[in-house]
Amino acid sequence: TGDQTLKGKRILVTAGPTKEALDPIRFFSNQSSGKMGYAIAAAAQRAGADVTLVTGAQLGDIKGVTTVHVTSAREMYDEVIRRYNGLDAVIKAAAVADYRPENVSASKIKKSDGPMMVKMVRNPDILKELGRQKVKQVLVGFAAETDDLEENALKKLESKHLDLLIANHASDSFGNDTNKVTFYFANGRKQVLERMPKPQIAEEILDALSGLFEMSDSK
Ligand code: PMT
Repeated sequence: TGDQTLKGKRILVTAGPTKEALDPIRFFSNQSSGKMGYAIAAAAQRAGADVTLVTGAQLGDIKGVTTVHVTSAREMYDEVIRRYNGLDAVIKAAAVADYRPENVSASKIKKSDGPMMVKMVRNPDILKELGRQKVKQVLVGFAAETDDLEENALKKLESKHLDLLIANHASDSFGNDTNKVTFYFANGRKQVLERMPKPQIAEEILDALSGLFEMSDSK
């Protein structure tokens, strides 16, 4: 949308994977490219919003968007949470690692003959914390699954106190230029979208967000 439908709204978008270090040269991560989150940030900027992008991906910076680069889930947590008070909406398109290695070796881990065990510990759930601290911010989350997509989507919508949950199959979404998503709104409405390029999906997400702002402004 070239029109200024989101003028004055302060929106934070997260994008990309997180990387969880094992030693100075190795990490655990996932297949997120950042394309979905960057497309949302660009569309929100075009719609007149004041946009911050917190990203674990290294796509080209978007003109007019404040971009904050992070590596790990804990860094993303800090950068998102400390901005939360001043925001009107958060859209969490990032694929955040649920676990990280408990110990990060200061020097390169040398191989030995036997198997190697890595103990993983839980990362904080950023979106869940946003849901807990929510005052009047509009919260939009994603769910990427290989199985039982609808069931998991509805669970995340509720447990993280979201206004909108965007569900996609892992095979449709990670790394692709297109995506196929379904919207689940907190009021029970469901909207199934066709497969389309991520920039177009981003426009649909921001249309939905405008609707949510209208609903919460009229409360
Ligand atoms: O980057 P692309 O290649 O364009 O791919 C897009 C995408 C597949 C990454 C995106 O469309 C998507 O679905 N993002 C969420 C991926 C995901 O793994 O979600 P999840 O089901 O693990 O997490 C649910 C929600 O909680 C997400 O909004 C996630 O950002 C958030 N979360 C998860 C874990 C955690 N520790 N903190 C979080 O905030």
